Amino acid sequence: METTAPVAFITGAAKRIGATLAKQLHQQGYNVLIHYGASKHEAQALALELNMQRAHSAHILQANLCDMGEIDVLAKEALEVWGKVDILVNNASSFYPTPVGSIDEKDWHSLVGSNLKGPLFLSQALAPALIKSKGCIINMVDMHIDRPLPNHTVYLLAKTGLASLTQSLAVELAPHVRVNAIAPGAILWPERAMSEKDKQTLIDSIPLGALGSPDDIAQALLFLVSASYVTGNTIYVDGGRRLHSNASA
Ligand SMILES: NC(=O)c1ccc[n+]([C@@H]2O[C@H](COP(=O)([O-])OP(=O)(O)OC[C@H]3O[C@@H](n4cnc5c(N)ncnc54)[C@H](OP(=O)(O)O)[C@@H]3O)[C@@H](O)[C@H]2O)c1
Repeated sequence: METTAPVAFITGAAKRIGATLAKQLHQQGYNVLIHYGASKHEAQALALELNMQRAHSAHILQANLCDMGEIDVLAKEALEVWGKVDILVNNASSFYPTPVGSIDEKDWHSLVGSNLKGPLFLSQALAPALIKSKGCIINMVDMHIDRPLPNHTVYLLAKTGLASLTQSLAVELAPHVRVNAIAPGAILWPERAMSEKDKQTLIDSIPLGALGSPDDIAQALLFLVSASYVTGNTIYVDGGRRLHSNASA
């Protein structure tokens, strides 16, 4: 299929923040490639919703981003849909605690795979297409990239690696492709259970006094997509939490 619309490819876009990013880009006129891992029904429902608004404007693609073979196939399939990619949003992520003493290779595989290896090899596979379209890459990192998050060593080393990758790619793919990152603070509670007390402690550490919303992340994304002289940068969307003395709670 050919399209005159620009094409945005968002990983982990079936639900939560990724789904909002897909919807907002779609609203701006992008055709969207909605990648998912396990959330097939949510991905299908989102694509249906967007295709009802504009026919043939959303397409779903499945892959486990920890698997090199699947990443390669995913990149090929993405390019087969509309023949191009203008924006790659590396949003997919696994997130769970790994206290030192309990870390095993499975944690490394899952957390580094989804948060760093997937983005690196997907960016590499799509680089020729992004160069051709003079496109951009946006990596979802975390406000904790420059301060520890207790019990999350493996997740955080992967996100810190992704922040480093952002800068390396910004230099290496310039001047054709801009590469930036967004560092969210507390936007949505993790899917695993959290006590009300822990939630309140966290909210108390946010200068702006509340969680952010996926729309706050989308706002930063839309800025970065259109900011033609910005590359290698990270925008913190964290309500000021990185400045708080209790930011590692
Ligand atoms: N939520 C927050 O407050 C917050 C705070 C800081 C940073 N961030 C970052 O912002 C981004 C979006 O956050 P979120 O909370 O919306 O993310 P999320 O729900 O934790 O994860 C997004 C999606 O990633 C996909 N995924 C995970 N491992 C995968 C794998 N191996 N292969 C393929 N897909 C995989 C899952 O897709 P399926 O469900 O289809 O399997 C999941 O739905 C993430 O990069 C996150 O680290 C979020």
